[in-house]
Amino acid sequence: MAWVDLCAAICAQRHSGRMCVTAFVDDLKFEEPVRVGEVVRLEAKITATFRTSMEIEVIVAGEHSATGRRWPCVTARVTFVGIDEERRPAPVPPLLQDTEETRASQAAGEARRQARLMIKTRA
Ligand SMILES: CC(C)(COP(=O)(O)OP(=O)(O)OC[C@H]1O[C@@H](n2cnc3c(N)ncnc32)[C@H](O)[C@@H]1OP(=O)(O)O)[C@@H](O)C(=O)NCCC(=O)NCCS
Repeated sequence: MAWVDLCAAICAQRHSGRMCVTAFVDDLKFEEPVRVGEVVRLEAKITATFRTSMEIEVIVAGEHSATGRRWPCVTARVTFVGIDEERRPAPVPPLLQDTEETRASQAAGEARRQARLMIKTRA
């Protein structure tokens, strides 16, 4: 989980050009284990952006280095917020929505964001 957070942080900071902090981690489901001696691969991408926050998807896979076999382990979604020098939320660049895939990704991220903010309001 720490690696997921770190991988997402690198992605958020590369996209925004700012320091970023974790605001929310969606539910994590571990589909298959990665055992000692196997390799863990993490890939992160921005799936939606808002004013100061970004939704990042991290895909974690196991890899057997001798055979090259890979298997899905975890898909996680993390919300990061860009911050300024005073640690106040600061605007981040929008996700480039130049394909059907990125437009659908942004729309799905907006729906998930509503659900997250409802949890925050209830807390
Ligand atoms: C995340 C944080 C910067 C938000 O600050 P805030 O004063 O609540 O600011 P705002 O209410 O203006 O929210 C700023 C953004 O965060 C988003 N946000 C805040 N809480 C959120 C939550 N629980 N889930 C999703 N997004 C959230 C808001 O939607 C907003 O996004 P937007 O500008 O894109 O609409 C602040 O709560 C914080 O510093 N938290 C601690 C972070 C931390 O220590 N992380 C672990 C180590 S990195």
